[in-house]
Amino acid sequence: MQAPEAPPGSGGADGTMERDVWDERYAGPELVWSGQPNKFVFDEVAGMAPGRALDLGTGEGRHAIWLASLGWQVTGVDFSQVALAKAAALASSQDLSITLLLADIRSYQPAPGAFDLVLIAYLQLPWPDFEPVLHRAAAAVAPGGTLLVVGHDIENLSSGYGGPQNPAFLHRLPEIVAAVPSLTIVRAEQASRTVPTEAGERVAIDTVVRAENRPPTASA
Ligand SMILES: C[S@@+](CC[C@H](N)C(=O)[O-])C[C@H]1O[C@@H](n2cnc3c(N)ncnc32)[C@H](O)[C@@H]1O
Repeated sequence: MQAPEAPPGSGGADGTMERDVWDERYAGPELVWSGQPNKFVFDEVAGMAPGRALDLGTGEGRHAIWLASLGWQVTGVDFSQVALAKAAALASSQDLSITLLLADIRSYQPAPGAFDLVLIAYLQLPWPDFEPVLHRAAAAVAPGGTLLVVGHDIENLSSGYGGPQNPAFLHRLPEIVAAVPSLTIVRAEQASRTVPTEAGERVAIDTVVRAENRPPTASA
């Protein structure tokens, strides 16, 4: 049975989510996150033609594995060895092949133009760390490809459920949009997601940014 979708990044209220903290968090045999793709990732990606995908902060690999099941050739990056071991086991239990890289995304340099999809889901880094990650992620998108950023929005702090409680770790749409000027913004919004909890359903507010490596005039 899959774990229910917990609010990603909800632990570590002081924001110190370094590798050992994540390793500890992933230490149990159960999944920390849902084994299913996030709703916004599903909505944005399900219709895309499979190609090469990069999942930054892949965790237990729910998106990497789902993408691989759709025929994508996926590379997942995370600095938690424990999370990557779980992702590898999960992929192999489904007879799926994904490439997993142990690396700190704050210094990881993806090959420019190498991916048809770069996914960043619930990677809640403080802005001084996140901005350069976005620059490198945007540069890694191949012509015609897509950068998709989904995560806890700043608005979630006052009006949503779960997520980090330190504002420094929450996404702000204008900052993210401004950080990827080479791409064409297709979607940039605060979007609501229902979260099942023991006390009933709650609503979380996420940032969703979809940006494509194509001229603005070639809109669909
Ligand atoms: C909230 S989880 C999200 C996992 C996955 N994207 C998902 O949606 O299920 C954030 C992940 O980012 C990873 N992470 C956080 N900071 C990182 C860093 N600097 N370098 C690499 N991975 C990092 C953590 O280990 C964790 O697996």
